[in-house]
Amino acid sequence: MTQAPQHVPYTTTNAGIPVESDEHSLTVGSNGPILLQDHYLIEKMAQFNRERVPERVVHAKGSGAYGTFEVTNDVSQFTKADLFQPGKRTEMLARFSTVAGELGSPDTWRDPRGFALKFYTEHGNYDLVGNNTPVFFVRDPQKFQDFIRSQKRRPDNGLRDHDMQWDFWTLSPESAHMVTWLMGDRGVPRTYRHMNGYSSHTYMWVNAGGERFWVKYHMKTDQGVEFLTQADADRLAGEDGDVHRRDLFDSIQRGEHPSWTMRVQVMPFADAADYRFNPFDLTKVWPHSDYPLIEVGRMTLNKNPEDHFVHIEQSAFEPSNLVPGIGPSPDKMLLGRLFSYPDTHRYRIGPNYTQLPPNRPRSKVNSYAKDGPMRYEAADVGAPYAPNSYGGPAADVQRFGDIAGWQAAGEMVREAYALHREDDDFGQAGTMVREVLDDAARDRLVSNIAGHLLDGVSRPVLARALQYWQNVDKELGERVAAEVDGG
Ligand code: NDP
Ligand code: HEM
Repeated sequence: MTQAPQHVPYTTTNAGIPVESDEHSLTVGSNGPILLQDHYLIEKMAQFNRERVPERVVHAKGSGAYGTFEVTNDVSQFTKADLFQPGKRTEMLARFSTVAGELGSPDTWRDPRGFALKFYTEHGNYDLVGNNTPVFFVRDPQKFQDFIRSQKRRPDNGLRDHDMQWDFWTLSPESAHMVTWLMGDRGVPRTYRHMNGYSSHTYMWVNAGGERFWVKYHMKTDQGVEFLTQADADRLAGEDGDVHRRDLFDSIQRGEHPSWTMRVQVMPFADAADYRFNPFDLTKVWPHSDYPLIEVGRMTLNKNPEDHFVHIEQSAFEPSNLVPGIGPSPDKMLLGRLFSYPDTHRYRIGPNYTQLPPNRPRSKVNSYAKDGPMRYEAADVGAPYAPNSYGGPAADVQRFGDIAGWQAAGEMVREAYALHREDDDFGQAGTMVREVLDDAARDRLVSNIAGHLLDGVSRPVLARALQYWQNVDKELGERVAAEVDGG
């Protein structure tokens, strides 16, 4: 037995039993064979072989921290959700991520960034699982899997491939607004602290009187929006692939706590029917001039996870976690996502994932769910079925109000959304290019697009891509074509 230094605790097996050595296996003689009875050696090897859970199928590389959300403005006329009531403070968890890269991929690849928030409210977990972009590439969940496959690695050579990306994008013109974002400055944030978050989707808010509103969330960084040029992003990908993870962790460790101001756009329920854009189409924004931003509160990240795997890798965000006062909208993408996330969590970390520290509600859970792998919290409902006559919990819709919903009727069809007056695939992207970007930002946009297209895009796809940019903005399209020709 080795003599441990006096100032450190002694090593144990996972069962808490003191171990004899951190370094030497149990053998017959110093050169002899290893004995099967070396339970500690076997435990170490077996545990190591099981250290990984599958990485997230998308958003695999991420970083996060705990924090607090405080309400700074009275929005109770729009929602009764407890976390948005005046004066309220709610503990929360945030996870930021890239989308297409794997667990070890560089933080500075051009990609949207995930912006996932979990609020531990009085009425259970509220998850706002957004991105750093107010729009998305597709508007029907049927196309999400295809879209992601076009961004991930090829089956034959295991490489990512710009030809697949542009092939999909140009065959899916609804992607134009989001691709304009992606190719612009905000396609590579300077750090996770220097980007905004957006719900992207429209949600429903319901107030205490049962009145319904449509809302979009904007999380504006208090650090200011900053970006990396393509050249800096490429350099950093080689120098420090974890630069954004490091930045978030180190800044919180130093006591520089990043914060974001939550604002919402609120649309009266009845406006949705004939608003000039389909307000549920995820490829569109609501112009600020139509629905101005209303302040709600501030989120501050002030506590690093004590164990990245436990708190961040095993965190499980799900847009289906909606609390009383908040509901989904008819956005088809959102409705698809309501199924997808809890399903992938059951596969990735097991059916009892809600009992793990980052996912466990801080409010009392009175669920009739029971058993299953790795369940460790005892059910506290008396008889394990409802209804029961032994004092078990009973659903109480009266206490929390009506279901947040809307009227739906019609034939079953497979059809695109009905178009509103100004709906098209390229209009808002063009507005951004012409009215939001300045000359320098437009120059970088042209250069980013051309650089991407010159990297392995085949002729027929390239021709479609040049037309795609002409459709966004004629001048932009001509400049991209000239740069591609010159390249
Ligand atoms: P506004 O002039 O009111 O808003 C334009 C917004 O564009 C800004 O508030 C800012 O959003 C965002 N922005 C600024 N620079 C960039 C950039 N380099 N890349 C991407 N976004 C940038 O106009 P509208 O509301 O009428 O929108 C016009 C266009 O602006 C839209 O078509 C859309 O492309 C884009 N946009 C609109 C947003 C919205 O929710 N209305 C949000 C973001 C972009 P922020 O303040 O959130 O940083
Ligand atoms: C992660 C599916 C669209 C934001 C994921 C994961 C899946 C998924 C399966 C992995 C979750 C995990 O393993 O923990 C889908 C589907 C979509 C869709 C089916 C469309 C139909 C979107 C959109 C947004 C978004 C539109 C943003 C508005 C995120 C974020 C994560 C994520 C932020 C990472 C969450 C985390 O940090 O753990 N998505 N997604 N997704 N998705 Fe989506």
